[in-house]
Amino acid sequence: MSSTTGLLAYCRQGFEPELAAELTERAALAGFAGYARAQRNDGHVVFVCEQAQALDRALPWRELIFARQKLRLLAELRGIDPKDRITPILAALAGAGRYGDLWVEHPDSDSAKPLAGLARSFGNALRPALRKAGFLTEKDDARLPRLHVVFVQGDHLFLCVADARHSAPWPLGIPRLKLLPDAPSRSALKLEEAFLSLLDERQREALLKPGMTAADLGAAPGGWTWVLTRHHLRVTSVDNGPLREHVLATGLVEHLRADGFHW
Ligand SMILES: C[S@@+](CC[C@H](N)C(=O)[O-])C[C@H]1O[C@@H](n2cnc3c(N)ncnc32)[C@H](O)[C@@H]1O
Repeated sequence: MSSTTGLLAYCRQGFEPELAAELTERAALAGFAGYARAQRNDGHVVFVCEQAQALDRALPWRELIFARQKLRLLAELRGIDPKDRITPILAALAGAGRYGDLWVEHPDSDSAKPLAGLARSFGNALRPALRKAGFLTEKDDARLPRLHVVFVQGDHLFLCVADARHSAPWPLGIPRLKLLPDAPSRSALKLEEAFLSLLDERQREALLKPGMTAADLGAAPGGWTWVLTRHHLRVTSVDNGPLREHVLATGLVEHLRADGFHW
């Protein structure tokens, strides 16, 4: 077991250098010394820092641009025996408190995605063992920290902790959004995802109030406009291209065939 302390953050595969740079800069600005450990296409970055708890509080997940999720590192376990992964985890957790939930995950990278099945079955085995050892509540309790077990290989994992109120509420940090059949384009999902990841509930309520107005520049075929109308906003949609009929039929959309740069 290694006593690495610091943060573990997930990112979209390929953005590890950007996330590493962001964590390094944000930590330095907040007055924390540390360094990032990252490998391109690993889908995650470790930021090693001795004052992990204070750094964790100083860098709220929502304020990070490249982090899909940000966790505080408790331990890194390498070379663990695939026949018994539970014993070293219980040993590493000794004295580390009680958790209200368990998520067993893997970074969203090509190399770690095949670990999804292991993560699922291992979670089912670990949960009762954690409860028996008193580390996990019988029922999920969002007031307590959430334990994350993050597999990067079958014999290499990180133990991490997150505060449910200050971390991404989606496993792997990825909101699972379904494209509705009447969405005019797949871009609709991008705006939905941005609203979920960039704004908290209070900000969504304040910024997406029925009756407010929005401009959508380069709007055709109308994915973003459609999302905005679903929040009951009035939208000026600027594009020389056509908008889908059902988007116009909402009665909330003014379609201007104009150049968005000069509108
Ligand atoms: C990728 S599509 C936009 C998709 C749209 N956001 C959605 O959610 O369905 C890009 C659009 O930008 C429009 N466009 C490109 N340059 C523009 C400009 N200068 N002014 C207005 N629209 C422009 C194109 O006509 C095209 O329809």
